[in-house]
Amino acid sequence: MKIDVFTLFPAWFDWFSGQRHVRNALELGHELSFTDLRAATPLKAGQVDDTPYGGGAGMVIRVDVVEAALRARYGVDPLELPTRRRMVALTAGGRRLDDALVAELAAEPELTLLCGRYEGFDERVHEHLASDVVSIGPYVLSGGELAAMVVCDAVIRKLPGTLGHEESALEESFSVALEGAPEYPHYTRPFEWRGHRVPEILLSGDHARVREWRHERSRERGAGGA
Ligand code: ADE
Repeated sequence: MKIDVFTLFPAWFDWFSGQRHVRNALELGHELSFTDLRAATPLKAGQVDDTPYGGGAGMVIRVDVVEAALRARYGVDPLELPTRRRMVALTAGGRRLDDALVAELAAEPELTLLCGRYEGFDERVHEHLASDVVSIGPYVLSGGELAAMVVCDAVIRKLPGTLGHEESALEESFSVALEGAPEYPHYTRPFEWRGHRVPEILLSGDHARVREWRHERSRERGAGGA
């Protein structure tokens, strides 16, 4: 899979790219690239944003700046891009990211993430240069960079071979295997800690009952909204 991130702060991703599961993904042949939205700006002095029409606080990233960055990277008319690949603009007001959307994105051969800053993108970026407008939650971040890292992280861990144990991505919270419910509780040593014991069933060696117990706990958590 190829993931291209467009951002005003590519250096933010240096730490992320060095993490074990991300390095695993790169070693497996997946690609991650970062493009500075400012690099190809057609405006003077590296300008990328402008004041909002209608007035109001803050600055808005210009659509012609995003267009120029995409054209420089892909060499085609950027209006064609959303019909060819998933182009995800990150913004607080977008479609909420969930496991189903992550799985959908992880199945794509190519993915582009557009990180907004300041008050976000000119609306025409969402309408004409993106296929999806995505939010990681109902709160406002200072930019789309952390949101893009969340999307990358969640997508990359679904790619086969990037996690230590393949099963860990299958039966995890919100997965189809758990019918969308949160994951069951996990325990490890010590067996007893300050009088709190691990549920006996987990030591029974009866795999079918353990499995049933785990799925019940998962369903309970889902029903309780935990
Ligand atoms: N940019 C600012 N806030 C955001 C959020 N919650 N999700 C995605 N992008 C954002």
